[in-house]
Amino acid sequence: MTTAAPSVHPRELSDAPDWWRQAVVYQVYPRSFADSNGDGLGDIPGITSRVPYLAQLGVDAIWLSPFYPSALADGGYDVADYRDVDPRLGSLADMDELIAELHAHGIRVVVDIVPNHTSNDHAWFQEALAAGRGSAARDRYIFREGTGPDGSEPPTDWQSVFGGSAWERVADGQWYFHNFDVSQPDLNWANPEVRADFVKTLRFWSDRGVDGFRIDVAHMLTKDLTEPLPSAAELAALPQDGNHPLLDRDDVHEVYAEWRAVFNSYDPPRTAVAEAWVHPSRVPLYASIDSLGQAFNFDLLEADFDARQFRRIVTDNLALAARSGSSTTWVLSNHDVVRHATRYGLPDAERGADGRPTLKHGNRWLLSGGTEPALDAERGQRRARAAALFVLGLPGSAYLYQGEELGLHEVADIPDSARQDPTFFRSPGVDQGRDGCRVPLPWTAEGPAFGFGDAAAHLPQPDWFAAYAVDRQDGDPASTLSMYRRALDLRHELQTAEQLEWLDLGREDAVGFARPDGWIVVTNFGTEPIALPAGEVLLSSVPVEAGTLPGEASVWLRA
Ligand code: BGC
Repeated sequence: MTTAAPSVHPRELSDAPDWWRQAVVYQVYPRSFADSNGDGLGDIPGITSRVPYLAQLGVDAIWLSPFYPSALADGGYDVADYRDVDPRLGSLADMDELIAELHAHGIRVVVDIVPNHTSNDHAWFQEALAAGRGSAARDRYIFREGTGPDGSEPPTDWQSVFGGSAWERVADGQWYFHNFDVSQPDLNWANPEVRADFVKTLRFWSDRGVDGFRIDVAHMLTKDLTEPLPSAAELAALPQDGNHPLLDRDDVHEVYAEWRAVFNSYDPPRTAVAEAWVHPSRVPLYASIDSLGQAFNFDLLEADFDARQFRRIVTDNLALAARSGSSTTWVLSNHDVVRHATRYGLPDAERGADGRPTLKHGNRWLLSGGTEPALDAERGQRRARAAALFVLGLPGSAYLYQGEELGLHEVADIPDSARQDPTFFRSPGVDQGRDGCRVPLPWTAEGPAFGFGDAAAHLPQPDWFAAYAVDRQDGDPASTLSMYRRALDLRHELQTAEQLEWLDLGREDAVGFARPDGWIVVTNFGTEPIALPAGEVLLSSVPVEAGTLPGEASVWLRA
């Protein structure tokens, strides 16, 4: 394990147009990062106050989840105004300051764009409600007449992603379509005004200095809702081959081609990364340089801590990236899934015939509040550290989720009365929702809200957060925070061409690879120690002695 003190940046902001290809991007969930004004909700000035922390961590960019005006019915993914800041989180001037401060520390800024749906508080939706059926205002959304003798039944039996009907009736009897919560009406992407408005939004933030965009559910925007509409069963049976009525349609790339022209009109070109839950063979369409330019790869996030799965995923995704001309992305956690330290401390996922976990979001094990089956917290953390060094050694860009650098676990036992996520409310008793990974960060072991802010945090923080606090880990060379800092620092020094060569370690449950110029990464997924290839130990997830890597651990070597 390293004992070297982390070097403190700022780095210079790289002006290389391809800065994103191997960047480490740190996801900030603004409501839960740092609260500057003591209202229990994280805010933009709070993030600005922590820029030195981000710089010391050594990230190349941050991705900000939505901070726009919002009723927070879906954690901000219900946007009421795309070109403003939620007054509870700050102002446009605060955003300008944050962007300037990040840039001064060599950190780029990616913001979340939510184009599939607005909030029902958005001026357009309010206008649509007032304007009535057949109006131009309703055409910006997806309104239909109901079925049944008096139209009181929804147009179809489709279910929303969060549970319950995907249609909601308005006062005059029409129904509108919402893929997600009732408060998130889907936009009509066949409407030119909708298209023009998002171009305006992309320019608005690009002009303010934002470097890139994360595109929410990028595979859902365009739809073919020609009547008669299929039933839910018919819909589910249709192939997702580019012509599905609702998902991953080929024509969505017409939208992104237009956006690409906008991105490329800036210097350096603005970047984008697609959140697209599509068949792997179709990911390169989104990652193509004519489209969004990069796409999330969620395979590791769905995998067990398993050598075969990890190796196959890396091989497949490097090949997919080569097909698109993009770089690949690695994600272990985000604001939608159970934190990986916790996933790795629970039994392996149950999988369907397609090899994917059988329950969405990996929330399967939280149905019991995380106590049955019991969480092996220490093992989960040990594996999480090993997985982090594996991922940070790979070619491509790595997306980190706030708190993973602290080894933070999921908060599995939030009382129902404190829950906020619509997935919990729309599927009572089935899905515990995603609040457990969104609990505000512990900055200090003592003091109000563990240093998050002066008031109680908007989601309750458990007592055990003290042990994970930044100030407990700062300066402790054995801490997870120190390991991440050292890894990001070394990664800058060692980073090289986007290639790797697999090493034969003679063991099925261990994976090793060499990057050009002598950087070697070995991960032992099994429990038996393994002999290491020759080389100087640069960093390891557990103490390493005498050329042997213990079980469930990773090491970086210089050959
Ligand atoms: C975001 C979620 C959000 C959904 C609807 C996503 O995939 O990551 O947090 O609930 O889109 O906007």
